[in-house]
Amino acid sequence: MDSLATVGDQALDGDVPGRDSVPALSVRGLRKTYRGGFTAIEHLDLDIPDGAVFGLLGPNGAGKTTLIGAVCNLLRPTAGDIRVFGHHHDSREARRLVGLAEQEINLDRFLNVGEILVYHAGYHGIGRPEAQRRARELLDLFRLSGKAKSRHTELSGGMQRRLLLARALMHRPRLVILDEPTAGVDVELRAEIWRYTRELNELGATILLTTHYLEEAEALCGEIALLRAGQIIARGSPGALRRQFGVDDLAGVYARAMADEENAWATGGAP
Ligand SMILES: Nc1ncnc2c1ncn2[C@@H]1O[C@H](COP(=O)(O)OP(=O)(O)OP(=O)(O)O)[C@@H](O)[C@H]1O
Ligand SMILES: [Mg+2]
Repeated sequence: MDSLATVGDQALDGDVPGRDSVPALSVRGLRKTYRGGFTAIEHLDLDIPDGAVFGLLGPNGAGKTTLIGAVCNLLRPTAGDIRVFGHHHDSREARRLVGLAEQEINLDRFLNVGEILVYHAGYHGIGRPEAQRRARELLDLFRLSGKAKSRHTELSGGMQRRLLLARALMHRPRLVILDEPTAGVDVELRAEIWRYTRELNELGATILLTTHYLEEAEALCGEIALLRAGQIIARGSPGALRRQFGVDDLAGVYARAMADEENAWATGGAP
């Protein structure tokens, strides 16, 4: 098996309202101030339409992982409202609708690879036989079947990334969040992750992707937001952003948008 389309009877769980209905993700007035007083996100509004492949770009420390952590209930927002397909992000429905492959490799070291997947499904209320079936299929798809009984510490870095992806997909989420999925992976795995991302999207999933590789965002994303110091400073399709900034590629957009912000700060003006 080499395609997500053949995993299970259907790719996604839950009823599927038509596209252009409720946004997959809707964030209003989000603020996150960490203990110690540092504000990583400041009054952030963001809508991601159902069916999008959406790229969230920005320098180290811009707040991308903080935003994702707030959406996925890994940290508590200081203020604001977050909805996933219209459900409050903290609700059972919303949790079931989101799958996250985190930036930091975060896997239980007491479980073997197969158990990691089955336990994750159990957390989402999926019965053991079905969970085991899905785990076998995803391990096969991500070429980890030979490692099912290994601890994740016995996997290579790229294999651990594949396992993170498999885990994120176990409960067939409709919003798949990939936080730097191609950081530190080889050329072949990067190409595979691009293929999985496109395939998942074709199967109906909305994708939120962060990356520092601008050509990756350009290749995969229909829409992009640039984040800097916890605020969105530009947003649009790669084409619209290229026109807006009068440049030929996304690298140019990125450089211009960041420089404009830098100047606005230096001159004390509002960006
Ligand atoms: N637990 C924490 N406590 C205090 N500050 C934090 C915490 N986690 C993150 N921050 C700070 O919040 C800011 C945003 O961090 P975040 O991890 O969201 O950035 P990012 O855009 O994901 O960066 P990268 O591209 O490096 O992954 C940074 O200044 C970071 O130091
Ligand atoms: Mg991050």
